[in-house]
Amino acid sequence: MRIKHTFFSFALLKLSSLVRCEPPFNNPPGVDVWCGKAYRETNSSFDPGGWLEPPARNNGSRPLQLRLNVYPRYNFYVEGEKQGSFIVDTRVSDQEQYGGSYMNETHGDGNGTAAFTKLVLNISIGDTVVVDNLQIPVNTTGIEIPFDLDLAKLTDADGTGVFLARGSSPDGKQLYEDLAHVVLFPERSDGGSMARLDRLNGGIHVSSSLTNGAWKSVLPMGFYTRWDWISNETKSLQQYKDRGYNLIHPVPPGGWASFDTGTFEKFLTICDELELYVMYDMRHTYLNLSSISYQLPRLQSHPSLLLYYTGDEPDGWTDPLNGTLLAYKHIKSIDPYHPTSLVLNCYNFYFEDYTSGADIILEDTYNLIKSSTFSPVYNTVCNRTYGDCGCDFCHANDTAYPMFVERPFEDIVERTRKMYQYQRWLGQKETKPVWGVPQWFYDADSFWSRWATREEAVVLALLRINHGAMGIVGWLFPTSPEVESATTDLAKVLARDDVTRLLVDCTGQRVMPEPPLEDSNLDVAAWVGGDEILVVIVWPQYEPGDGAILKLPTGGKRVTDWEVLYGAKWMANGRTISKEGTASLEVSILKGRIRGY
Ligand SMILES: *[C@@H]1O[C@H](CO)[C@@H](O)[C@H](O)[C@H]1NC(C)=O
Ligand SMILES: *[C@@H]1O[C@H](CO)[C@@H](O)[C@H](O)[C@H]1NC(C)=O
Ligand SMILES: *[C@@H]1O[C@H](CO)[C@@H](O)[C@H](O)[C@H]1NC(C)=O
Ligand SMILES: *[C@@H]1O[C@H](CO)[C@@H](O)[C@H](O)[C@H]1NC(C)=O
Ligand SMILES: *[C@@H]1O[C@H](CO)[C@@H](O)[C@H](O)[C@H]1NC(C)=O
Ligand SMILES: *[C@@H]1O[C@H](CO)[C@@H](O)[C@H](O)[C@H]1NC(C)=O
Ligand SMILES: *[C@@H]1O[C@H](CO)[C@@H](O)[C@H](O)[C@H]1NC(C)=O
Ligand SMILES: *[C@@H]1O[C@H](CO)[C@@H](O)[C@H](O)[C@H]1NC(C)=O
Ligand SMILES: *[C@@H]1O[C@H](CO)[C@@H](O)[C@H](O)[C@H]1NC(C)=O
Ligand SMILES: *[C@@H]1O[C@H](CO)[C@@H](O)[C@H](O)[C@H]1NC(C)=O
Ligand SMILES: *[C@@H]1O[C@H](CO)[C@@H](O)[C@H](O)[C@H]1NC(C)=O
Repeated sequence: MRIKHTFFSFALLKLSSLVRCEPPFNNPPGVDVWCGKAYRETNSSFDPGGWLEPPARNNGSRPLQLRLNVYPRYNFYVEGEKQGSFIVDTRVSDQEQYGGSYMNETHGDGNGTAAFTKLVLNISIGDTVVVDNLQIPVNTTGIEIPFDLDLAKLTDADGTGVFLARGSSPDGKQLYEDLAHVVLFPERSDGGSMARLDRLNGGIHVSSSLTNGAWKSVLPMGFYTRWDWISNETKSLQQYKDRGYNLIHPVPPGGWASFDTGTFEKFLTICDELELYVMYDMRHTYLNLSSISYQLPRLQSHPSLLLYYTGDEPDGWTDPLNGTLLAYKHIKSIDPYHPTSLVLNCYNFYFEDYTSGADIILEDTYNLIKSSTFSPVYNTVCNRTYGDCGCDFCHANDTAYPMFVERPFEDIVERTRKMYQYQRWLGQKETKPVWGVPQWFYDADSFWSRWATREEAVVLALLRINHGAMGIVGWLFPTSPEVESATTDLAKVLARDDVTRLLVDCTGQRVMPEPPLEDSNLDVAAWVGGDEILVVIVWPQYEPGDGAILKLPTGGKRVTDWEVLYGAKWMANGRTISKEGTASLEVSILKGRIRGY
């Protein structure tokens, strides 16, 4: 959320321009830009650059490519843990230069050839064989293979064990290789927390005295919170926590130390007591490495610290392209135990550079705008190369994009998916989780039209979760009574242990109506873990819908004991659920038990 539209605008704008040591890199002299684009009437459109294009595709004249990816499930392990696991992916793609050539054939013992559908995998470290001739299906992802963590100690290079993975076709003629870097850290002794990322399902796990040393899965749900509210009413943090939010993200008022140190220490101590997780924001200071060095040691002993946050819309501000990565490396050198995040505001602007400095990517797509085609603030057209409408290259209600008229929340879905798709285009081995920033604020006289209603506030969060968001941090608390009440009810459901476990530790799957409905806009995802299933259903339209029959992804097993955790009830019919008609912006969170396990 850009500062110029917040409540504290003026003072902050001045402070933040102080730390911005150099002019943005891509604007012509005197031209103000957002997402690299000119947005003033007095300036004209130019191509801002930085647009990530999809990779070249093989048109069929050359073989497909297989890439063997082998990486540890967690971005680090801790001494004392016994078992780790590798995640293996064997995607086959027509993307150019994706991996090694893949011919779908292997020669048998005799003269015959067979399809190459199983890769034979070996993994070793030094002379020690960890995995021997294990068959892995070709073109799959997320195969988990356990290994003894003691083996990671075999290489000494700064706590990183480098494992060599070699895969081949059964006849040994097609070969693929990868290296897996397993990081093993000492246990902390200063009382601070450790937070790590699960590369299999995208969740964040935390361990500290607050969790009695166990790894706990967290689905972060909370708000960016005004520092004047926090610092004036530190006691109300109890109320904040009671509303069901498990994460708080204080917005720094400015200055090179970000927060008043004494007050911040008190704040952290209360968060420790409440087990309220903290996202530590360095938006004004992340380009100043010596300021980072000053700030971080003060936080280390607090178990409530969950993660760092550097650039606040660095792409919007056109912060230096190397800034986020320089800060990232510096933070890791001081504290390797917590992930670093940042929020991107632009649709597609130097994604690779800015996200190279992040473990977690947030998107703040504010789609409840006055217009996606004409800026009410700057009186210009908004398009791919020009203008600022408050939601970069969004199309909500734009008749030139009929799908976005039918589905006015589609910008959120699209943006969340793009943040994952760009990573695939870049061929990233490990996927960085995407978190969402719902529009739970309102600024009069700006791009945004009004407060979200209760129903909209919930849709803004659940659509993101259905499309892979692993955390929800709304802008901005305090919010309206209606949004506060809606998000409280939602937070209380999402924070339930059983719901968190399913959303964080299982992989969500899209669920389609059955029989397939032409252009059904019902947005449904399901998470299956053991004998439990969670289904999240969103009707993202203002007009009522027709309802549907949904076939559950339970491999044909029946589901019983349905509970409605939030919203509307659906009819249970064994292997399906159904509903006749959905109300405007109707949502449901349902949990059931799978029979036959
Ligand atoms: C851009 O607009 C500003 C006023 O907002 C003006 O001073 C400047 O000359 C313009 N620059 C160009 C290149 O048009
Ligand atoms: C496919 O690409 C190759 C080289 O990139 C080119 O020579 C060939 O004409 C292309 N074939 C088709 C059908 O486009
Ligand atoms: C392979 O083919 C050759 C000639 O076609 C034949 O003589 C031989 O028996 C075949 N071997 C097997 C194992 O089928
Ligand atoms: C390889 O061929 C088999 C048999 O035709 C087919 O089932 C399989 O999908 C193919 N695999 C790939 C990755 O093309
Ligand atoms: C590989 O799997 C993906 C995802 O399931 C699928 O879309 C694609 O068609 C498969 N590729 C081949 C060559 O079979
Ligand atoms: C895997 O190891 C076995 C011996 O255990 C060896 O025969 C085979 O060639 C190895 N495969 C690869 C791809 O290195
Ligand atoms: C703190 O809160 C009180 C009561 O709500 C208010 O009167 C006061 O102005 C606030 N102080 C600051 C510094 O915001
Ligand atoms: C950078 O941080 C240091 C404190 O470590 C501070 O003294 C300095 O003024 C800061 N620089 C800027 C440009 O804010
Ligand atoms: C980062 O980029 C800026 C230009 O934006 C350049 O002046 C600076 O030297 C770079 N810093 C490093 C460490 O590469
Ligand atoms: C889109 O249209 C709906 C229904 O008219 C309205 O409530 C919503 O505010 C509009 N959104 C935008 C971004 O114009
Ligand atoms: C965006 O609008 C400006 C001003 O109307 C125009 O000059 C420019 O060509 C447009 N850009 C695109 C990509 O259509």
